[in-house]
Amino acid sequence: MTLWGGRFEREPDRILWNYTVSEADRRLLTDDVRGSMAHVSMLGDVGLVTLDEARTLLEGLQTVLREAEDGEFEFQPEDEDVHAAVERRLIEITGDIGRKLHTARSRNDQVALDLRLYLRRAGEDRQQQLDEFVRTLITLAERHADTVVPSYTHLQQAQAVPLGHHLLAYAWMALRDRSRFEDLGRRLAVSPLGAGASGGSSLPIEPANTARALGFDIVFANSMDAVASRDLAAEYVWCAAQAMVHLSRLAEELILWASSEFGWVTFGDDFTTGSSALPQKKNPDIAELARGRSAGSIGALTAILTLQKGLPLTYNRDLQEDKTHVFAADDILGETLAAITAMLASAQFHPPAPTSWVTALDLAEALVERGVPFREAHHAVGRLVGGLVADGRGLDQATPDDLAAADHRFQSDDVRRIDVEDSVRRRISPGGGSADSVRRQIDALRKLV
Ligand code: ARG
Repeated sequence: MTLWGGRFEREPDRILWNYTVSEADRRLLTDDVRGSMAHVSMLGDVGLVTLDEARTLLEGLQTVLREAEDGEFEFQPEDEDVHAAVERRLIEITGDIGRKLHTARSRNDQVALDLRLYLRRAGEDRQQQLDEFVRTLITLAERHADTVVPSYTHLQQAQAVPLGHHLLAYAWMALRDRSRFEDLGRRLAVSPLGAGASGGSSLPIEPANTARALGFDIVFANSMDAVASRDLAAEYVWCAAQAMVHLSRLAEELILWASSEFGWVTFGDDFTTGSSALPQKKNPDIAELARGRSAGSIGALTAILTLQKGLPLTYNRDLQEDKTHVFAADDILGETLAAITAMLASAQFHPPAPTSWVTALDLAEALVERGVPFREAHHAVGRLVGGLVADGRGLDQATPDDLAAADHRFQSDDVRRIDVEDSVRRRISPGGGSADSVRRQIDALRKLV
């Protein structure tokens, strides 16, 4: 029997049933039961059910919760959604008293509540995973505070930096990703329960009681907003998608770095895969799938934004689809963080030194220290580079005479600046790529995770 059969003369057709029944929301089972427990307590407090009835309902819900947590809760084909399933089971346990559960409540405020409860706990989990990811990057950065690599712009070698500096760039991104979930948590701390179907209730309910019992800070101010809005679900998906885009960029770099051409990194045998055809292969599949799965996160974000755009207030059944996209984005991020963190922890970095060209700016800065306008210094070094390239020589093969020919203000010991280690050692600007900066960042990051 449906929750709403009263006004219908015929049972729902199987085609309607199969198309409209939701199974995605089964993930909200424990949230749904907890929400119902708070609701029932409130009904008892305000006298809408007797205290005896409230106790019976609570005990019944406790049983349902235990079944849910032990994986023993059984959904039936006639359950239209998770809310109907819980009510059906409660009536099986408590008898007719269970029919009082839905007093002064609609599945519209109920599902809005369940989703918020889910997002609040999932958001905490993702924050913890992001912390763990940052801690792994810190460990690697500590190990490689003095390992010099080229930084790249346009995928061309740019300036020398410590490898730790490059890795910590991702730690700062991850911290911002974490803070986005934290910030969203403040907006999620508003309970929608008590909004009813769309306009509230004629019964003397106390939404503040249920809100308090469920750990919310405050209660909705507008029942129509409470049941119709999905911006917070979309915001969650955006937080997840942006975090995935960061992981995808890292994944792309790990893939490049693991290539024979780069040769920067080797991952553990237990975190790489082989080829069925090519015996020599050791493939960075976790990183490739992380890059690939970020597409699904972006798809989920597009979907959940589009889902809302044409909907008149308040609840429309379209909104049942929100969960598919939220869960997809959340699973992608949760599973990817776990896999990428483990893969990174297995990484052995052994990057070759950058080419000496990455010290070209250091040479120009030697002239700037002597008062030469930067544009002139840039041209002088440019001339030097052009000449060396034409001769088939590297910058590290430049002689004091080559420097003097490029600009008379060069001094003979300026050739010492053509050294990648020296370039990183001389880096003094705050937040720049030096070993000291890496250590300062590690101290700061440790305080934040
Ligand atoms: N299964 C529905 C959903 O996920 C619950 C709300 C249904 N409300 C309704 N009036 N049919 O959105």
